[in-house]
Amino acid sequence: DETKTPYVSLGEREGIEKLVTTFYRLVGQDPLLSPLFPDDLTETAYKQTQFLSQFFGGPPLYTEEFGHPMLRMRHMPFPITNSHAKAWLSCMEQAMATHNLEPELKNFLLSRLKMTAYHMVNTEDSER
Ligand code: HEM
Repeated sequence: DETKTPYVSLGEREGIEKLVTTFYRLVGQDPLLSPLFPDDLTETAYKQTQFLSQFFGGPPLYTEEFGHPMLRMRHMPFPITNSHAKAWLSCMEQAMATHNLEPELKNFLLSRLKMTAYHMVNTEDSER
């Protein structure tokens, strides 16, 4: 149904929480991404669930609790390269595949997340 927001198509907050849980399980196993994150991803996953709920057209749960997202600024403490953005998107694509998202919804959401992910890049990949 094209009139539904992605938030509703994803199963509202509960559906997003499941997706995010799978996503951070993959992030925690990713050799490039995991060193940037805390060992316990509970709080990270909670914040991401609140954020993606609003990002995908649901209620502004993140802003209500944590204020304006200012995502690029909140990511500045971490050296994020193009390779990190690619790995982040790959984990999200895998999580979406695990939860059997409709291809159209999946592609639409990934295209939106792609813009945000590359916007977080603040460090050049080192030459090897
Ligand atoms: C927080 C990494 C992309 C949304 C974080 C944290 C790290 C991180 C290390 C801090 C975790 C913590 O202290 O709990 C990355 C990397 C990315 C990326 C390597 C690759 C490009 C994104 C994207 C989004 C996003 C695309 C949104 C669609 C968030 C949110 C938080 C967060 C909402 C919590 C901010 C807070 O309130 O502290 N990210 N991130 N991130 N990230 Fe990302």
